[in-house]
Amino acid sequence: MSSHCAHDAPFAPAAPTFIAQEWGAYTPEDHLVWSTLYERRMATLGETGSRVFLEGADTIGLGRELVPDLRDVNARLARRTGWNAIPVSGFLPAPEFFACLAQRRFPTTVTVRPMAQLDYLPEPDIFHDVFGHVPLHADPVFADFLQRFGQLAARAQTEEDVTRMARLFWFTVEFGLVREDGRTKVYGSGLISSAGDAANALGPKCERRPFELSAVLDQPFRIDQFQDVLFELRDFGQLFSAVDEYAARG
Ligand SMILES: [Fe+2]
Repeated sequence: MSSHCAHDAPFAPAAPTFIAQEWGAYTPEDHLVWSTLYERRMATLGETGSRVFLEGADTIGLGRELVPDLRDVNARLARRTGWNAIPVSGFLPAPEFFACLAQRRFPTTVTVRPMAQLDYLPEPDIFHDVFGHVPLHADPVFADFLQRFGQLAARAQTEEDVTRMARLFWFTVEFGLVREDGRTKVYGSGLISSAGDAANALGPKCERRPFELSAVLDQPFRIDQFQDVLFELRDFGQLFSAVDEYAARG
């Protein structure tokens, strides 16, 4: 089912904990889990993944053999867009999460799921966060959108505002679809990192609607089941227009 992200528990009481990745502590099983997932997903994403994801994965140097070292990823991102993947121990409360985005910092879990839970993990891990999210941060248009989103979301005053920004995040960053070359492609991390969610998103049980800001802000979602409604961008420029439109509404 759905993969989750740090923002899914916006009112978690625990203080945010920024940590070091300690890349040398990964075990052979960790690297095997990464390479197994990488090969499985890339075999399909060549056809179903947005070119923005595919080019981004190449730009940040994701490899099939080893769990990525965030120092290498961040060195490549710094040259391209200035985004950083920042290791965290788990969920961040929404205000801290949004504040990080506003500074081009993406809170990233660094644990690797166990081999026994290859296909479903209730909380995010490095495959969801770094394979699924970080490649898009290499794209200049997406990079600017995500920072602008963070700036606006960090200013949300009411619970309703937070709910609407969470919906915008969910239906773009987590479960977004985009039209490319006359076909529907996946770019949201929940779809990039999960074969089951991607197959559902592109299959007959999911209604794919044209992306329209008002419709997205009014669309509830469930995190514990396959999505039955998703939204498809005409192009990534539409994302930045959406945050501009949101800002203009006050
Ligand atoms: Fe996520």
